[in-house]
Amino acid sequence: MLLLLAALWAGPGASCPQATGPPPLDLGTDGPASGRSGAVASAEPQASRIGAEVLRSGGNAVDAAVAVGFALSVTHPSAGNIGGGGFMVLRLPDGSSAALDYRERAPAAAHRDMFLDAAGEPTRASRVGALAAGIPGNVAGLGEAHARWGSLPWAELIGPAIALARDGHAIDAFHAADMERATAYMDQAGFGDSAAHFRRADGAAYAAGDVWRQPDLARTLERIARDGPGVFYSGPLAERMVRGMRGQGGIWTLEDLAAYRPVLRTPVSFRYRDHEVISMPPPSAGGVVLRQILAGAEQLRLDALPWRSAERAHLYVEILRRAYVDRNFWVADPDFVRVPLRRLLDPAYVARRLTDIDPLRATPSSRIEAGRPLAGESEETTHFSVVDASGMAVANTYTLNGGFGAKLVIPGTGVILNNEMDDFTSKVGAPNMFGLVQGERNTIAPGKRMLSSMTPTILTRDGRLRAVLGSPGGPTITTTVAQILMQLVDHDRTLLEAVREPRIHHQWMPDVVLAEEALDAGVVAGLEARGHSVRLRPRFGHANCVEVDPGTGTYRAVADHARDGGGAAAF
Ligand code: DON
Repeated sequence: MLLLLAALWAGPGASCPQATGPPPLDLGTDGPASGRSGAVASAEPQASRIGAEVLRSGGNAVDAAVAVGFALSVTHPSAGNIGGGGFMVLRLPDGSSAALDYRERAPAAAHRDMFLDAAGEPTRASRVGALAAGIPGNVAGLGEAHARWGSLPWAELIGPAIALARDGHAIDAFHAADMERATAYMDQAGFGDSAAHFRRADGAAYAAGDVWRQPDLARTLERIARDGPGVFYSGPLAERMVRGMRGQGGIWTLEDLAAYRPVLRTPVSFRYRDHEVISMPPPSAGGVVLRQILAGAEQLRLDALPWRSAERAHLYVEILRRAYVDRNFWVADPDFVRVPLRRLLDPAYVARRLTDIDPLRATPSSRIEAGRPLAGESEETTHFSVVDASGMAVANTYTLNGGFGAKLVIPGTGVILNNEMDDFTSKVGAPNMFGLVQGERNTIAPGKRMLSSMTPTILTRDGRLRAVLGSPGGPTITTTVAQILMQLVDHDRTLLEAVREPRIHHQWMPDVVLAEEALDAGVVAGLEARGHSVRLRPRFGHANCVEVDPGTGTYRAVADHARDGGGAAAF
């Protein structure tokens, strides 16, 4: 099978074998990629194609997700990774669902005030360098998913990623520019060896079309393929990583790595109008915030208002600022603090939170506090979506947090470190790198998972799969998913239209509406007239999603703002 996959995978632009067997791949160069047997949407075309080839060769959606996850670690280094963590939401062929948490954890030597200077102010160490990295969950998470639900042998799924790392792949213009920017940061931070990983042997930046070989990463992936995910967590590779980290001022120990475990959690599942939504529970706030947004939208009847209207945008923003203050105050790692989940997810609680909305004026965030759900009750990440012929669906979002994470590569391994520690509350009341002002419950503790916004989500209707959704974008992830979902359900838009639509976002603090530059000027003016402060930004998010046409059952994979043909593949 390894040979078969390697033969099928003949590089960009290769034609697909079409003699017998499954239909050829549609790569969706001008719109969605369509097919009835399988679909993949990811941030990068080669990874999507590898996933689709796994499906064509008889693998299921989890097999394909594992192959895509490892392929992105080679071809999309700013976010695709083995040195980070993430979340996977699944729908199984029998209609049941699952949520796999493979979020990073704080090392045992981490402590609450580790990112405060002598004056008690947050330092940059939560974002850059070895202290910024949580104990990675990706390899264990993909391994756990494969052990539970995969069908093809593990090593064969990593084979295409190994080939890309060992033999090299041609870099596109986007990634060449991305890597050049990252190496400038690495030089500034004094991480010359890490910068060298992303430069040609002669020290020059890679240009579009250059072939990038990653022999260190290839060797690491070969070990993982041969000996299983456990080699990342104990033995020579783990020892090398711990040595590398400690050499850079890090605090990881072999015990930290050996103790890492992914956790199977109960998804946040709820009805939205006549659909069922399945999303990620804490330690991601994604499902909770999505539930609060959609419950608010239902109560205020947003579906009855035109999608591109200031009236609708105003009410939507008012729901958001109330949902995000709850997120920031109440939600954290449920293994460490009690999250009042039942109440936070209760539409009656959300309704009470919305009673002070003024239909004509923005409520300043400074006047909005977190609710009291206990009363009465004891910018780089990447998302990919996969669907197979049986209707098995995987929504997977994983991340290094910032682009290229902590900007450090562990010497000799090709492992790029995450800077996920910045997702904790370094100081109560101080903004993190996404401007999120978070609370006490999300402060750092040994072994704790940092709060996330990642929102891998699956939508079904009448027991049938309707869509697989998700995006990067820090706190804007959940609003991006909510907006796509509401366009599908409330406004009968196609997935392509919904993904392409300009987005808006509010997260309580800072008290500003982030709006994409392409948003209708009339909506922006209408928000400002109602007292909102609007900040225009370039495109945010990168929603790589799949929908199932409710009429025909055809799968349509959509990669967000297509680059180089987009990362969608279907057959
Ligand atoms: O878990 C989170 O919410 C963040 N670490 C996600 C970071 C992210 O999406 C950055 N990408 N633009």
